[in-house]
Amino acid sequence: MDNKTSRKRIYLDYSATTPVAPQVVEAMQPYFTETFGNASSAHDFGRNAAAALDEAHTVVGCAIGARASEIVFTGCGTESDNLALRGAALAARRNGKGNHIISSPVEHHAVEGTVRQLHDLFGFDITMLPVDGCGRVDPDDVRRAIRPDTTLVSVMLGNNEIGSQEPVKEIGQVCHEHNVLFHCDAVQAPAYLPVDVNELNVDMLALSSHKFYGPKGSGVLYIRDGTPYIPTLTGGGHERGRRPGTVNVASAVGTAAAIKYIAAQRDEQAERLRGLRDRLFEGVLANVPDARISGHPRDRMPHHASFVFKDIDGETLLMALDVEGIAVSTGSACTSGNPEPSPVLLAMGIPREWALGGLRITLGYHTTQDDIDAVIETLPRCVEQVRSAVLEY
Ligand SMILES: Cc1ncc(COP(=O)(O)O)c(C=O)c1O
Repeated sequence: MDNKTSRKRIYLDYSATTPVAPQVVEAMQPYFTETFGNASSAHDFGRNAAAALDEAHTVVGCAIGARASEIVFTGCGTESDNLALRGAALAARRNGKGNHIISSPVEHHAVEGTVRQLHDLFGFDITMLPVDGCGRVDPDDVRRAIRPDTTLVSVMLGNNEIGSQEPVKEIGQVCHEHNVLFHCDAVQAPAYLPVDVNELNVDMLALSSHKFYGPKGSGVLYIRDGTPYIPTLTGGGHERGRRPGTVNVASAVGTAAAIKYIAAQRDEQAERLRGLRDRLFEGVLANVPDARISGHPRDRMPHHASFVFKDIDGETLLMALDVEGIAVSTGSACTSGNPEPSPVLLAMGIPREWALGGLRITLGYHTTQDDIDAVIETLPRCVEQVRSAVLEY
């Protein structure tokens, strides 16, 4: 083995996904082979699976300040966002409430694409709010954008690409003063920030288990009791009629185990990761010329560091770091491979020659100071190589 292949590989892409915690794997195991019944079946096998599913609803509900009845297990965060937005928008229209939706230009594709489709195919009127240089929405802009026919606002909690935290609580307050539903994509947050649906003033909220040490292909949708909602997947009456399809009991159990796992260490990890993240910010800004933080320097998720580098291609830089054994991202996992500058960075007013050089380094529960120091040592060299185009693979 040469030096490069024998070197420890460093994973710093926890916003793309996390490893499944061993206790989560252990909790899920019996639901594949022993308690494998269909939770909708009336017999003993089904009732045992249904009991585990009930318990998972309760655990997840408690963890986010919701009732068990308000928790819907879905196939992923994307599905949760889709069901929430389409379901609430169509229900509002059916009830004659109005046709106007408000969102932001820094949302994940799961929200952005759904809102765009509601406009293009269903004729909803959309207002895109402005964001500041850190990608944040001003609650007063939400207030100004609300019209008599506004039915729904969607703004995320923590931005996947630039890490900034949105003032969700304040936006929720504005929405409720105007009797408008508020949906929040909180997919990136729960392992690093507390998520409580009442504190945040949300009516609907999306989570994704693989972002908090749970299984992939497993999401949660919170729908406050009484929220007008049409299930836009059609089929059986699973999940109290809100998400048809045989429920993946093992995943629901895994999600509940993961939410307990993060709750037990969130505050401690957040403080630890904030320290490491700030060390990374300092080290990179001190050692890489023409580098800036993207997103808010402080009001951001504690595990999240993101940068823009002038006159560099972020994808090439990512590959150079990968050769060195360091796994990072250019932004959202879903936009990797796209040579266009990120629309999120452009919406924040970042010039194109900087926006092309976006890099996201996201820390997690297994990240150590040695990992961070390795990045501080390696990144300046990689940036220099890419800028002078002498990169060798
Ligand atoms: C903010 C945000 N919303 C939604 C999603 C989609 O979640 P999933 O991968 O579970 O579909 C992601 C995934 O990166 C995300 O970061």
